[in-house]
Amino acid sequence: METKKRPDATIFVIFGAAGDLTWRKLIPALYNLYLDHWMPDRFLVLGMDRSDMGDSKFRDRLREGVDRFSRRGKTGSEKWKAFAKNLVYFKADMTKDGTYNDLAKKLSAQDKDWDTRTNRIFYLAVPPSMIETITGHLAKAKLNRDRERSRVVIEKPFGRDLESARKLNQNLTSKFKESQLFRIDHYLGKETVQNILAFRFGNSMFEPVWNRQNIDHVQITVAEQVGVGHRGGYYEQAGALRDMIQNHLLQILCLIAMEAPVSFDGNEVRNKKVDVLHAIRPIFPEQVHHMAARGQYGGGWIEGEQVAAYRSEADVDESSETETFAAVKFYVDNWRWQGVPFYLRTGKRLPVKTSEVAIQFRPVPHQTFPAAALLDWRPNRLILAIQPEEGILLRFGVKHPGLSFHLSPVMMQFYYREAFKTKPPEAYETLLLDVMEGDATLFMRADQSEAAWSVIAPILDVWENVKSTDFPNYPAGNWGPEEADILIAQDGNTWIVPTLLQCREDTSVCRVTTEPES
Ligand code: BG6
Repeated sequence: METKKRPDATIFVIFGAAGDLTWRKLIPALYNLYLDHWMPDRFLVLGMDRSDMGDSKFRDRLREGVDRFSRRGKTGSEKWKAFAKNLVYFKADMTKDGTYNDLAKKLSAQDKDWDTRTNRIFYLAVPPSMIETITGHLAKAKLNRDRERSRVVIEKPFGRDLESARKLNQNLTSKFKESQLFRIDHYLGKETVQNILAFRFGNSMFEPVWNRQNIDHVQITVAEQVGVGHRGGYYEQAGALRDMIQNHLLQILCLIAMEAPVSFDGNEVRNKKVDVLHAIRPIFPEQVHHMAARGQYGGGWIEGEQVAAYRSEADVDESSETETFAAVKFYVDNWRWQGVPFYLRTGKRLPVKTSEVAIQFRPVPHQTFPAAALLDWRPNRLILAIQPEEGILLRFGVKHPGLSFHLSPVMMQFYYREAFKTKPPEAYETLLLDVMEGDATLFMRADQSEAAWSVIAPILDVWENVKSTDFPNYPAGNWGPEEADILIAQDGNTWIVPTLLQCREDTSVCRVTTEPES
């Protein structure tokens, strides 16, 4: 990972340019990079799709997307005009050889025009079934040849199990070098997720306590209030384990558990992360029900609004067995973490949207104070708040003011918005800039993705083969099924109420301003 510089001339070829991702995420991110002067002096976005539209309709639609989804809100006329002249639409059938021959000609003509070798970024904003087709055609048209400057960006899901991920990797690496492949996990682009590295390796005071001697357990929660919305078709094939744990939550676990990299070189950082995945204790089929819990939401209430059960959502089977909630306990079998449980949970239609990591420290080894002084005492806890609040909170005990002696927990807090008075860039801004610079540190390498599939493979197998008899087993607006509470209670622990909620209930504890998820 390098300090950023403005990239060289770049052409983004977006396959699936008429789709949702381009509209909601990619163009708003590129536009913000443009406003922040990170886009190269010369760039072009070549949007490819089957729909019939010209440049002007394409630009109008993208502008509407930016107006709706950009962190900066509505576009300014002049700036947008200057940006939009670099957006071009190319109606094309992505399964035909001719498309790629035309594309190759367009790209060479642009290189000639600019008198340079441009970065060529082939962004696959398409369903997974199209990945091999498009990359096959790119290779056939020799658009893979420039090993330095031609790059392919692939969205998740990357495979649907270990075997399919392996096959896909074999296929892709037979046409492109690994360094040309950028597998996106958008969580890695989030400012607060990147900050885990800064926090751990840019400070000396936490490292000595970052181990099994001091840490009791770790909880990683990624909770969503939304249901599956219009993505029922995709979600039916995925479920929470594939959709969130295999990628986002395991990547966060890696950042918490990894050893210090020797340098910030992309491969070195990824080596250290993959070491964690390899150290995760395998779960045998007969252990799955002790180590993992699944759930599916029924109808319920969220923020005073009645919401439908998963099985009543569009494109969802009315007797669906797909899990919308998953909780898993992992152990990392190495010197640093032996015996420390990592509890991961994620789900849709939970009471609040919040992602956070809680590091629960061990109690003090000996209680000096009399029992009466300790009624409110709590062990130390560090919270890395990922979203929507972005910050770090540290709980410790102090003497409660007064003549009697007793301890009270207090929170020391850092919030990005207060400390820096600015809203951090969106994950896609960071990631797209990294692709233009050819920096793959925040992207999944083939072995990382496969190792993550291996970790969850036994759970996938059991869940696919043993039907859940009690779905739906949590009402929308609740914290998942009872099985998840039992999972953690077996070790004498409980799920930590996310700080955001604790703070909403008691605003003297922390300063939060978060609005409910729309
Ligand atoms: C995606 C999942 O990867 O992440 C979605 O496919 C999920 O199901 C989304 O809603 C959550 O992302 P974020 O950034 O809103 O936490």
